[in-house]
Parts: sequence; C-alpha cells; structure tokens
Amino acid sequence: MHAPTVPRRVSLPTTLSFAHDPIGGLTRFGREYGPNYYLYVGGVSKSLITTDPEVAQRVLQRNHRAYEKSELQTETVSRYVGKGLLTNTGASWLRQRRLIQPGFHRSRLEALTTIMQTVIDREGDRLSARLKNSSGTLDIYEEMLNIAFRIVARAIFSEDIEEEELTDFGEKITKIQEHVIREVRLPFLNWYFKLSGIQRSYLQLSQDVLNTQKQFIRRRKEGGIVRDDLLQMLLDSRYEDTGLPMEEQQLIEETGILFVAGHETSANALSWTLYLLAKHPEVLQKIQAELDCICPGRPPTFSELRQLSYLTQVINESMRLYPPAWITDRVALEDDKVGDLEIPKGTVVVPFIYGIHHEEHYWEDSERFQPERFASNRQKDQVPFTFLPFGGGPRLCIGNSFAMMEMQLLLASWLRRFSFHLAPNQQIRAKPLVTLRPEPGILMYLHEN
Ligand code: HEM
Repeated sequence: MHAPTVPRRVSLPTTLSFAHDPIGGLTRFGREYGPNYYLYVGGVSKSLITTDPEVAQRVLQRNHRAYEKSELQTETVSRYVGKGLLTNTGASWLRQRRLIQPGFHRSRLEALTTIMQTVIDREGDRLSARLKNSSGTLDIYEEMLNIAFRIVARAIFSEDIEEEELTDFGEKITKIQEHVIREVRLPFLNWYFKLSGIQRSYLQLSQDVLNTQKQFIRRRKEGGIVRDDLLQMLLDSRYEDTGLPMEEQQLIEETGILFVAGHETSANALSWTLYLLAKHPEVLQKIQAELDCICPGRPPTFSELRQLSYLTQVINESMRLYPPAWITDRVALEDDKVGDLEIPKGTVVVPFIYGIHHEEHYWEDSERFQPERFASNRQKDQVPFTFLPFGGGPRLCIGNSFAMMEMQLLLASWLRRFSFHLAPNQQIRAKPLVTLRPEPGILMYLHEN
C-alpha cells in the first residue's frame, strides 16, 4: 500500500500560508489524509510526512541502516559549521560517534555540574544587578539563549576564554545561524545569496569563527593545563582502530557543532518551560516543594538531580508541547516496508515530531499541560516513539543528559531566586524555524525574591 498524496492543486495554493505556519498546515493535512501522506513541500520535493510512531521507529531505529539524513540537513549546515556529528553521515559519522559518545556518558557529566552551576550563579548575579536598574521586564528567550550559550561554551572550554571574547564569538555564531535558517527556509533564493555576495560574506564569517575556535584549542594545548571539560575529553579520546587522536580540523568542527546543536535547543526548552510555569502557578508550587525537600536553600548535587522527579516531568511535558527539534528527516537508501506501507527507495521520510507529540490518540487531552503524564508509574503506558524530543535510535541526541542536567540546574536555581510573571497583552506563537522558537520572544516581569 502506498500512502496518499496531497494533490498539488490542494497543496500549491497553500504554499504561502504553509511557509508562514508549517505546523498548522501539516496538522490540517494529517487530519484529512491520515498519519502517513505525501506532500510536495514548497511545491517541489515530495516527502512522506509521518506522525505514525511505527514509521518513525522504523526509519530512526529499527531499520536505520537503510536511511540517511537528507542533504538539506547535512549540506547547508555543514557549509557554515563544518562536518561534525550533527551533519556527518555514513561510516565517518559512526567513527566519530563512537569516539565522542563516552564523553557524554552520565558518569562524565558529573564534572560538568560545577561548571554549569558557576555560569548559572554568575549570570544570576548579572541579572540581579540589571533588575536593580530597570523596570524588570525582559525577553526571557534572549536571556535563555545567552545562558545556554555560556553553559555550552564553558562546558567545552572551561575558563580558557575571556567573557568579552565569548560575547563576540556568540554574536558571530548567532549571525551565521540566522543566515543558515534563511538558506534552509528559502532554498529558491540561494542563487541570490550566491550572486549578491551574501553567501560569501557569511562563509567568511564562519571562517572567522572556526579560526577563533582553533585559537582556543591551541591555547589549551600549549597552556599545558588539563581540565575536566568536553574539550579535554575530545583531546584525550583515541580512535579504536588507529589509537590516534582526532585531527585538529575535525576537532574544531566537532566543537563548533556542539555549540550549534546545543544552545538554541536548550534555550527554547527553557523558555517554553518558564512560559508554562508562569501560566501554571500550581505546578511551580509543586516544584518549589520538591526542591525544598531535596535540596533546601542550595543547588542540587549531581546525584540529587535524579531525585527531582517532578521537575523532570515538567521539563518533559514542556518538550512534548513545544519540542525544540520539531521535525527531522531521513532518505530511504533502499525499498522498505512498514506493515502494509511501502516506502520506495529515495523517499524522504519526515517524522513530524511536533505532530506525534500532539496526537490525541497517544496523548489524551493533548493540548493540556499536564506534567503527571510523565510520572514513573505511567511511563509503561507510553507507546514507543510517541515522545521524541531528543530523536531516537543511534542518532539520538548525544547531549540529552547534558541538556536535562543544565535545565534542571538552571530551573532549580532561578525558580527560587527570581519570580517570573508574563507581561500582559502578548501574542506569543511557536515559530518553527530550524528549532521551535517563541516568536517574537517572551516578555516577562522578573523580580528577585
Ligand atoms: C533541550 C535540548 C536539546 C534538544 C531538544 C535536542 C534535540 C536533538 C535531536 C532531536 C537530535 C536528533 C536529530 C535527528 O536525528 O535528526 C539531536 C542530535 C544532536 N544533538 Fe541535541 N538536543 C538538545 C541539546 C543538545 C546539547 C546540549 C548538545 C551538546 C552539548 C546536543 C548535541 C547534539 C548532537 C551532536 C547531535 C547529533 C548526534 C548524532 O547525529 O550523532 N544537543 N538533538
């Protein structure tokens, strides 16, 4: 059986509204055509959109060898950021993944607790000083981007980099990311980006960023100081087959990818969580009670993070409603079949993660914020591959425990230190760019408790 196709005469007239609101568009077509349907995305490339967890599991996990990420994911991003885990494919990806994976193991993450907590306290002090001299209203998304960037930067480079260097570096990365989004979303304008010299100027900027990273790495190597951070882990790791370390260029590109993959995603999840908590004070109270019980008046230790079960449920429920990575894709390298559904070679299969997370069939009263869904006694009822904030299968997010840990630490600190209230009269919507951002931001009124 082949999945139905949304005829071009139906999808073409919706191209513009679709570009403006792809989540709404995909959801509407899903209601009409079912959990698996073909769509001419942007009027041209035909993709199999799926909210069927069995299909998602098949392409991401069960038969992952027969699928590869599409060029849209790998080529455009790697043009600017280089080839690292996120953009790499095939045997080279597997070799790198094997090398880097142990560095992200929970046991290694303990050392990063102190680094993360230092950033959280330092940025908390900075925020507190700012609040004394302002009305207290700020865009929480900007704040989360800043802090998530600094956490991942310090987790990689510890204190090797000065604050100003970091700010400058962050601004450049943001500019590049904004341009990558334009190229991914407006592929038909790529000729214009090339001819106008825009692409060249961004390629130059990304070269600058890579050179800066090279300087940071050389500083570490030449300084002779051994640190307990991600860069050290990457420097110390050796390939199984050759016993050799990574080449410098590869090291630069892998660290770059960690910045890109690891800061906007966490910033989104944190922003949406704060937004939901501001709307649900009863949930916030339960978090406060849990914190008072497990780590009264102080940050949680690494081992206590596991005990913060309600806080973890809240973060999961926030990522269910607003998955930062709201969509992904895989190209079929050979013919495949899931149950009756034929997936011919060359098909671009698009697991619509947001759609799966909002599917009434798997999530009762799916639009409601209800953290208890993730209580441990209810986990057994969860259908596999219906909750995919970090993807699934061998390409599961390598930073998932890192991200959970940073979110827990930040929320445990800041929810006790500050009060967050939504500024009135805002129209906030989830804007699906490469990640699911709050648009135009989330204005909140903060005060220090
Ligand atoms: C809430 C935060 C995060 C979310 C929601 C998230 C989500 C994801 C998802 C869905 C994927 C898989 C994409 C696919 O299969 O197509 C992924 C991959 C990846 N993530 Fe994350 N991520 C987060 C944080 C992080 C952090 C903090 C880091 C690093 C410090 C990181 C590094 C990576 C890398 C390197 C990959 C590629 C892995 C591979 O293909 O081998 N992520 N992430």
